[in-house]
Amino acid sequence: MTRVYVPRDAGALSVGAEGVARGIATEAVLRGLPVDLVRNGSRGLYWLEPFVEVETAGGRVAYGPVTEADVAGLFQAGFLEGRSHPLLLGRPEDLPYLARQERLTFARVGIIDPVSVDAYEALGGYRGLRRALEMAPAAIVEAVTQSGLRGRGGAAFPTGIKWKTVLNTAADQKYVVCNADEGDSGTFSDRMVMEGDPLVLVEGMTISGIAVGANRGYIYLRSEYPHALRVLNEAIAAAYRRGFLGPSVLGSSHAFDLEVRVGAGAYICGEETAMLESLEGKRGMVRFKPPLPAIAGLFGKPTVINNVISFASVPIILDRGAEFYRDYGMGRSRGTLPIQLAGNIKHGGLVEKAFGVTLRELLYDYGGGSLSGRPIRAVQVGGPLGAFIPESQFDLPLDYEAFAAKGAMVGHGGIVAFDDTVDMAVMARYAMEFCAIESCGKCTPCRIGSTRGVEVMDRVIAARASRNPAEADASITLLKDLCETMLAGSLCALGGMAPFPVLSAIQHFPEDFGLPAVELAAAAG
Ligand SMILES: Cc1cc2nc3c(=O)[nH]c(=O)nc-3n(C[C@H](O)[C@H](O)[C@H](O)COP(=O)(O)O)c2cc1C
Ligand code: SF4
Repeated sequence: MTRVYVPRDAGALSVGAEGVARGIATEAVLRGLPVDLVRNGSRGLYWLEPFVEVETAGGRVAYGPVTEADVAGLFQAGFLEGRSHPLLLGRPEDLPYLARQERLTFARVGIIDPVSVDAYEALGGYRGLRRALEMAPAAIVEAVTQSGLRGRGGAAFPTGIKWKTVLNTAADQKYVVCNADEGDSGTFSDRMVMEGDPLVLVEGMTISGIAVGANRGYIYLRSEYPHALRVLNEAIAAAYRRGFLGPSVLGSSHAFDLEVRVGAGAYICGEETAMLESLEGKRGMVRFKPPLPAIAGLFGKPTVINNVISFASVPIILDRGAEFYRDYGMGRSRGTLPIQLAGNIKHGGLVEKAFGVTLRELLYDYGGGSLSGRPIRAVQVGGPLGAFIPESQFDLPLDYEAFAAKGAMVGHGGIVAFDDTVDMAVMARYAMEFCAIESCGKCTPCRIGSTRGVEVMDRVIAARASRNPAEADASITLLKDLCETMLAGSLCALGGMAPFPVLSAIQHFPEDFGLPAVELAAAAG
């Protein structure tokens, strides 16, 4: 029986992986060749999906991108023995895109059957939890603190410090909540983990529960991820069956129950307090802070809230030790980051690297430049609220502090590339429009300011079209004023950061706003 892997990852499914899997199963029956079809996650080389792998005597061999129409030819060529074919890619681990990565969090993604506990354990899974069960809660929190892990959801807050607050807050009930809303443009690392190795998230949340004294966890999943929902629920059921979840985790005195709750499709529900409101069954509106969710979170109880990647990074920290993890990275950005390459890029996909890798390396050595073949003019890093970064700053290393020094942010590690046909004034307008559409409406600078921002940007674009620099200048002065109000007066980072893409676009690409470079750079401050 030959084992063949065809991803069930949503990205692979969107380009026909289901048909390929069906085709392989049918063809195998027709030819009387027994095949064990495993539906794995994606390796993250999206331009090669559907990426089919065959387990041969000499290891796994990949073919891609495979279409349903290629299946008969692959059988004909002897792909079950790893034979030559125009789509043959060789051993996946030898592909330069993968060979140069440092996959810690993504160690198993695309390799194992995501819902098999045995496959998970065979590649180091649940070793971290077993270690944690031998440790005192404070020692687990200390290990996470020492690892230097900072929240991967956007704000980069030290995870260990958050956990310590929950541990030290006395309460009859505590919760662990995973933020799987993943609303940022160009991001998909949470989805890839949930579809490709969900047990690493389940394990990380269980360790968190044991560390802080919480016996109940929720994964808040965006509604746009139906495939992740299916895989997560299968994996959670498997973990229950094997005693990794439930009233006595692996026979210990610790209980941990976990369930998935699906959101209803609002960007603001990724903001942690709006997410709590949504989890409680209410409309997703931002809460005032304090109190911090770590003190009074879900249903008013102390709550750990972390991003999928933050939790998924915990098992390896417990398994290999804090030192091992913190040895990766630079400055105060420790460990690795799963970076997502998206937008106008030739080789879009997932690159996990230690902090310190530069944007240029990511865009060219991994990404292969733009898909259009034109020069990359700008990138937006960290989602729709992230600053635009011009080509002159592509040597910036991925590091929270280095990015902040340039007014940019690493955020969730999504990089969206634009070539030289992009109109940055239109992008600035889009940032305001996005904020206007997604604003929860609680505070005036964001609710009203973003709508006014769209109107002012329309005036800038009209002034540019009619070659009226005086009108463009006046509108940009007003826009700058508006951005200052939003920056200073918004309750949360949606209104508080929407000005970043706008101001960075004006600063770095003044020619797109209808005025000479020098005047506009001054206007942007
Ligand atoms: C408008 C807005 C949207 C956000 N969306 C997400 C999201 O989709 N996923 C996420 O993990 N964090 C998101 N965050 C950050 C969360 O509020 C919070 O900082 C995070 O979930 C904490 O987890 P971490 O410390 O592991 O990053 C968002 C924040 C804001 C202001
Ligand atoms: S900044 Fe916008 S999204 Fe945030 S609380 Fe205010 S109105 Fe709501």
